[in-house]
Amino acid sequence: MNAVPKYGRIQTQQDEAATLRTLNVFAVDVIAIPSVEDLFWYVAQNVVGRLNFIDCVIYQADPSKNELTQVAALGEKNPFGRNIINPLKIQFGDGITGQVAENRKAVIVDDLLKDQNYIADTQLARSEICVPLVIGDRVVGVIDSEHPEPNAFGKAELDVLTTVAAMTSAKLELLAESDRSKRRYHEIAQSHAQLAEEVTNRKALEAKLFEARKLEAIGHLSGRFAHEFNNLLTVVSGNLEFLESDLQNPEMLECLSDAQTATARGVQLVRDLLAYSQRTRLNPVNIDVNNLAATVCENCLPMLQKGVHLETDLQDDLWQINADQKSTSSALLNLILNAHDAMPEGGNLCVSTKNVLHNLNEHRVFITDLAPGSYVRLSVKDQGVGIPNDRVPQIFDPFFTTKIIGAGPGLGLSTILGFLQQSGGTVAVETKPNYGSTFHLYFPAIEP
Ligand SMILES: Nc1ncnc2c1ncn2[C@@H]1O[C@H](COP(=O)(O)OP(=O)(O)OP(=O)(O)O)[C@@H](O)[C@H]1O
Ligand SMILES: [Mg+2]
Repeated sequence: MNAVPKYGRIQTQQDEAATLRTLNVFAVDVIAIPSVEDLFWYVAQNVVGRLNFIDCVIYQADPSKNELTQVAALGEKNPFGRNIINPLKIQFGDGITGQVAENRKAVIVDDLLKDQNYIADTQLARSEICVPLVIGDRVVGVIDSEHPEPNAFGKAELDVLTTVAAMTSAKLELLAESDRSKRRYHEIAQSHAQLAEEVTNRKALEAKLFEARKLEAIGHLSGRFAHEFNNLLTVVSGNLEFLESDLQNPEMLECLSDAQTATARGVQLVRDLLAYSQRTRLNPVNIDVNNLAATVCENCLPMLQKGVHLETDLQDDLWQINADQKSTSSALLNLILNAHDAMPEGGNLCVSTKNVLHNLNEHRVFITDLAPGSYVRLSVKDQGVGIPNDRVPQIFDPFFTTKIIGAGPGLGLSTILGFLQQSGGTVAVETKPNYGSTFHLYFPAIEP
């Protein structure tokens, strides 16, 4: 094995000019080559193939296994396209290519018959030239060419192949760097997305916590207030009753009657507030919600203005619930009246029931968390004005109303929420401004 032999094939000036032209074209084309595979095939077929070499095999190194694999070729090993007949794997140190990889030094063999390292691949060759592809101090591959005659390669071939190897290695380094950048970009994009999701989840949790605390605080306050006020009203109505038995003057009696009506209204307000703060004494019984819904709807019919059509969609084999009957009826009545008020121009109002197996993945917006389980869902759907999203949490606050003063104190929904929560269920809303709203009451079902 000689490091620099005497004879070469690139001999004439025309040869040198053609070599330069090929290298120039390579220098321009290499910029646009997109991948390692494309680069190896380009070098084998368009560079080495045009430089008077009659064959070429390029090996890619796997440094973790100290192994070379044939990845691109020209000549006997490459019958057509990008195919290699029997692509060999060679360990570093084995054969001529393996030694070049191990020593990171180019080699020319003048006569392979005299070289004990020679491993014949397809046809027996007589001379060989082999240069390593090196990045820093790592071997990333080898470019190899054989010839059927001895002494086929000289200094000129060694120079030109070393230049090709240097240009190829530089491009390999660029491709590796671009791969690393892409991976880094991908990782950064991924962690950015993860962070954004965490921030969104956190904000949603904080909003939920804020709502829960707000409802708890208002509930506590209104409960205490209702309790105290109830005591005062008991004294007022007792005294009014006492006066009534003694008064004869019709004018005075009329005044008294007004006072009694106002007191009764106050008592009702106090009851609603107690229901909201979940301090109502409930009397749970087993209820067939379909029956209850049919009765409430029938009673409602006379109250609806023309243009509002009430229909029902009640599920067969509906599970029973265990809840306070009067509160359930009045919750449904309240929802029907709200739906009715939301459709001043008229529209369809649908009361429906459904057995629901609720799991935590359900996407509906629940006013408070609902434990997984079986529920009976009683829903009221309208085609009314709808509610802007940011106002949804507010509508459950006591005394929140958008109706004209005197039309209602704004206790309907807060009372319903208090009752449902006290019964182990909750309320959910789906709404879209100008399209309508659906209010769902979820009652725990008696296990079917
Ligand atoms: N189906 C609905 N469509 C549109 N808005 C609704 C609907 N139901 C309730 N709302 C809004 O929620 C507010 C609060 O409702 P809630 O039932 O608590 O009180 P109210 O109906 O105003 O008064 P009350 O029920 O005490 O007579 C309403 O004023 C209205 O703005
Ligand atoms: Mg109402």
